Amino acid sequence: GSSGVQVAIDGPASAGKSTVAKLVAKHFDYVYLDTGAMYRAITWAALRDGLDLNDEAAVMAIVAKTPIRFTPGQPDQLVFAGETDVTRAIREEAVTNNVSTVAALPAVRAALTEQMQQIAAAGGIVMDGRDIGTTVLPSAQVKIFLEASVAERARRRFKENQAKGIAVSLATLEQEIATRDYKDSHRTSSPLTQAKDAILLDTTSLTVNQVVDKIVNLVDKYLNRQG
Ligand code: CDP
Ligand code: CDP
Repeated sequence: GSSGVQVAIDGPASAGKSTVAKLVAKHFDYVYLDTGAMYRAITWAALRDGLDLNDEAAVMAIVAKTPIRFTPGQPDQLVFAGETDVTRAIREEAVTNNVSTVAALPAVRAALTEQMQQIAAAGGIVMDGRDIGTTVLPSAQVKIFLEASVAERARRRFKENQAKGIAVSLATLEQEIATRDYKDSHRTSSPLTQAKDAILLDTTSLTVNQVVDKIVNLVDKYLNRQG
């Protein structure tokens, strides 16, 4: 039935995953889960405590004592690490440039993956990340792999930064995005890769609404096939 559809949206940094996933979730009244925010929240807490981010046991101690929660907010949901509202802090450069290190730790991935699967058990969900279609929700009924050129993705992040008054050059952003994509694609534990049954959408020259329409149509097609 329509209550249990799982939509997995994966792809590299700034391909538009979270923007599009939120709108698709809203359209169907499904839950939206930003799995990158979970890795970011753990990275934020590990940096706060001055940990060596390659020390798996130390980072796992953080995971064990730091429940990550999402609560409704405007315009976006709020993210809590324990009792702290980290909604803004997890988007800062320090977290962005270190999150791939934390996300490469297999025990951290296993623990967060289990939390994601528990959230998905409730019903219809749109989840975005790097390994949703391959590892977190391997039997998701609709799997999308969003792509866009590095140049276009850096431009998108540049525009977002401008709106927030953050000054990082386009060249630096391109470099940061390329570095993170490389790390995310080359780690041993569930690397960023397109699931065999995922549909590739190159969004380089598409608007947000065009991408949302395509995904909504794919979900509708699935629902219609179910009758
Ligand atoms: O929004 P942006 O593309 O910058 O990244 P994000 O979705 O917030 O994810 C931040 C980082 O978390 C990624 O670069 C990955 O290192 C990691 N991540 C992951 O490994 N697996 C996921 N399912 C989601 C995020
Ligand atoms: O989650 P991810 O890192 O993949 O990307 P995002 O945080 O959704 O950021 C993508 C940015 O590109 C947002 O500012 C969108 O408005 C913009 N954008 C898009 O997402 N999709 C398009 N087809 C065109 C622009």
